[in-house]
Amino acid sequence: MLQSHILPAEPASAIVPEKAREGIDVQINGEHYRHTGDPQMPLLWYLRDVLRLTGTKYGGAHGENGADLVLVADAAVSAVTAPMQTLAGKSITTVEGLAGGDDSLHPLQQAFIDEDAIGCGYCTPGWLIAGVALLRRKPKPSDDDIDQLPNLCRCGCQTRVRRAIKRAAAGKAGQS
Ligand code: FES
Repeated sequence: MLQSHILPAEPASAIVPEKAREGIDVQINGEHYRHTGDPQMPLLWYLRDVLRLTGTKYGGAHGENGADLVLVADAAVSAVTAPMQTLAGKSITTVEGLAGGDDSLHPLQQAFIDEDAIGCGYCTPGWLIAGVALLRRKPKPSDDDIDQLPNLCRCGCQTRVRRAIKRAAAGKAGQS
């Protein structure tokens, strides 16, 4: 029995030594990644083109419409304007990471469905991220708090989005 612990699983000659690759370590939706490409690459391209997490959308060159928001810790941050080199060691959550581990929706996602707050859907991931960040810093937001979010919706869903955020804040997501 003791011998099986002493014997190597494979001969040492079969192990190829590897140098550690330098890079930028980030945690995205609970998974660890090391970015070894251009440190200036915007997070949005890393998410969409490298990881194929396409929920986060282009929000304009300066993130002006809010569709590119992600959570960095608890803060909503524009993924277009955040180069990878500024994110070393950070924990990032995209819209794909909002649902629970059992695939149950986040209460704000459910509230968006309840309030029919989704038009074409382009802006929705950004609203969800901004809304979650708002609810974390202010669990009972006012209309003003919601109206000050940076997100834009070309489909005119702002009123329903406001209702959805307030429904989630009231703990009534999923209730009729
Ligand atoms: S739902 Fe279409 S842009 Fe907002």
